Amino acid sequence: MSEFDMPDRYAVMGYPVGHSKSPAIHLMFARQFKDNIEYTAIQVEPGGFAQAVEQFRIAGGCGLNVTVPFKLEAYSLAELHTDLAQKAQAANTLRFNHDGKIEAHNTDGPGLVRDLSRLMDIAWNDPAGSGPPSAFRGKNVLILGAGGAVRGVLAPLLACSPDSVVIANRTIARAQELIGIFGGPTISACGFHDLCGQRFDIVINGTSASLQGEMPPLPMGIFNAGALAYDMMYGDSPTPFMKWARQHGAPSVADGLGMLVEQAAESYYFWRGKRPDTAAVMAALRARS
Ligand SMILES: NC(=O)c1ccc[n+]([C@@H]2O[C@H](COP(=O)([O-])OP(=O)(O)OC[C@H]3O[C@@H](n4cnc5c(N)ncnc54)[C@H](OP(=O)(O)O)[C@@H]3O)[C@@H](O)[C@H]2O)c1
Repeated sequence: MSEFDMPDRYAVMGYPVGHSKSPAIHLMFARQFKDNIEYTAIQVEPGGFAQAVEQFRIAGGCGLNVTVPFKLEAYSLAELHTDLAQKAQAANTLRFNHDGKIEAHNTDGPGLVRDLSRLMDIAWNDPAGSGPPSAFRGKNVLILGAGGAVRGVLAPLLACSPDSVVIANRTIARAQELIGIFGGPTISACGFHDLCGQRFDIVINGTSASLQGEMPPLPMGIFNAGALAYDMMYGDSPTPFMKWARQHGAPSVADGLGMLVEQAAESYYFWRGKRPDTAAVMAALRARS
């Protein structure tokens, strides 16, 4: 690499986006490979997404991450879609291909499954695939929420063959809609109060309640021995869901920082065909907070 080489340009677009850790994460990935990249955070006003993407592409951009509220629009804008984007009908990653076409991908699901596997010491032998096919066999999984994030993670989660997946949501109809899309004998939908008397091995909070300092109204006794409680949200201190899970018997509790880093690594792989060392980046981020 000479000092005259232009960096490959990437960015994350969202509204708001100032809080995003994606630039720091991708620059750490690039350093691992001595890749010459630039990665910025671009705040885009609602209504201006398509124009912002086109401007970025014309200026030589190679790829984008997309966050709230543009994941559905990113999917619609793209001419090509990976299987995972198609299943989620939403995209968090765009790639500008050499033929000028925009290709959409969704890395949230592989990111979550990789992080859960890491936390449960389940080996991941397939570097490019969507997850170990039997990683969650024998596990009963509860997912709280039925919004965009849950929609994005369901297919990769189901591909890991858990014994059952229950989706519980405040608005039950939205959970039922997901059953209609991803349905199968092992997946069901309910409200929070219907969880009384049920126990789970993995409980994933995919609601945005933690953002408001709240948590879903869950009954006691939902954790099996050895259960993992996982909040997709992350922050400098434990979320309300994480605190509640600890108080109510979950032996392992984690936030979504690992998912964030893993989904970023999947994006990096999609753009550049290289798989970063995520553990080193997670350790660096934890040390900063
Ligand atoms: N770590 C990562 O890499 C990562 C990636 C993506 C998302 N996330 C996180 O995932 C979470 C969900 O994001 P999203 O994009 O799916 O949001 P979303 O599409 O707006 O969906 C929000 C969900 O939360 C539920 N909800 C909101 N407030 C609630 C409350 N007070 N009590 C109970 N349920 C409540 C909603 O229920 P109703 O259907 O009843 O409205 C809905 O199911 C956010 O915290 C986000 O930060 C993390």
